[in-house]
Amino acid sequence: MTQTSSLRALRATFVAAVAALAATPLLAAPAWITIGDDAYALMQKVAPKARTLASRSVTVNVPVQRGSAALKQATEGVHVVEIDDNMIPSLSMAVHRDLAKCGGFAQHTTMAEALAVLHRLESTPEPLLAPSYAIDNQVQVNALMPQLQASNILSTITQLSNFQNRRYNSTHGVAASNWLFAQWQALNPGNRRTIRVRQIPHTWAQPSVEFEILGSGNSGETIVLGAHLDSIAGSGIETSRAPGADDDASGVAGLTEIIRVMMAGNYQPKRNIRFIAYAAEEVGLWGSQAVVAQQAARRDRVVGVMQLDMTAFQGDATDLWLYTDYTNPAQNTFVANLAAAYLPTLTVGYDRCGYGCSDHASWHNAGYAVSFPFESANATYNRLIHTANDTTATFGNQANHALKFTKLALAYMVELGSDATPAVRNEAAAKAPAPAITVGESARVSRAK
Ligand code: BES
Ligand code: ZN
Repeated sequence: MTQTSSLRALRATFVAAVAALAATPLLAAPAWITIGDDAYALMQKVAPKARTLASRSVTVNVPVQRGSAALKQATEGVHVVEIDDNMIPSLSMAVHRDLAKCGGFAQHTTMAEALAVLHRLESTPEPLLAPSYAIDNQVQVNALMPQLQASNILSTITQLSNFQNRRYNSTHGVAASNWLFAQWQALNPGNRRTIRVRQIPHTWAQPSVEFEILGSGNSGETIVLGAHLDSIAGSGIETSRAPGADDDASGVAGLTEIIRVMMAGNYQPKRNIRFIAYAAEEVGLWGSQAVVAQQAARRDRVVGVMQLDMTAFQGDATDLWLYTDYTNPAQNTFVANLAAAYLPTLTVGYDRCGYGCSDHASWHNAGYAVSFPFESANATYNRLIHTANDTTATFGNQANHALKFTKLALAYMVELGSDATPAVRNEAAAKAPAPAITVGESARVSRAK
């Protein structure tokens, strides 16, 4: 085990501890987690008193072999467990030591939320709204894609990295949000009526930032491209140095460059096109969870989501890796088709995180179609993330790899954004929701698949 991967584990422990504190009223208190089979077996040794509230078989798409494009369906047991929050750090550590991975479980603020996530994972393989995945807007894509510049992406990464850190609760994290907001506002100099730029306040200091181009059709259908604004490394809210160049200034810089090119080209979409730089990803996907929760209260219908988190460091010979877990298989196929059509010289591989490792999971858990193109196979990711050395130097002070993902994301936004035909409602998904999961079903054997 490398030193850097244990650093990542330490941080994961910190994350779990912070989340536990936030989730619990007073003193030692129950915490609610969803946990996969492997980590669950380990948990029963580490925390034998933890109470299993519900268990289900969940269908997941996995590559037939590591890296292969052919996918097969597999089932994975997922359990909702009530556990003493004091046990979370030991569980984190045990998962990392024995299973050689970070995460392996996700923490939820209430028992109801944990049960709802399990319900969603079990019952919604198909999103409610399915857009057409035909590739039919070549004119618009080909007009914009060549304008994307690696030098602009690198410049944004550098400027974001220059903040001491971008922690969700530091003054620097707030300053970085304000800076990005100003940058995005400056990309709309004429204050066009079809453009909305805003900061989304949260219950913590750092706001998320959103840039929206309103579409001229499709009754409020929306496409989202996201990345996370915050960074983390070590402790010390104000003092720690966390440049987060790859994780995830690279993603935010990609969004910024796409906005620049769309505005310069006066691109007018049919669907709403929404760019979101989420706050507070590194502490447990808080910003994206809050944003997804706000969707429920609004009328706009999000028919497709993509997440860019770590695009600058090329870990292996394959160019674009599509992660298959916590993502939508049909949309992933569309994204692979976009790569073949618009970036034919690039190679595509398939892998998985093994847990909800970025903001795509917040969307997936709520039933939206989301994809997560990633810089490398999971075995070869940039080991300097979450350290003071996640700088542009790690990727040779250039953004050529990040540019590939920015092009792919632009093709995604413009292909779906230019369609005039509304998404089709998936009647089967609408009519046959699985019964809600209630506590006390722990003894029930998961549904066989
Ligand atoms: N960018 C990482 C996720 C990542 C790291 C994906 C390495 C693939 C390889 C993200 O910002 C992150 O650190 N996520 C946390 C989990 C999250 C729920 C706090 C992690 O992976 O520990
Ligand atoms: Zn990240």
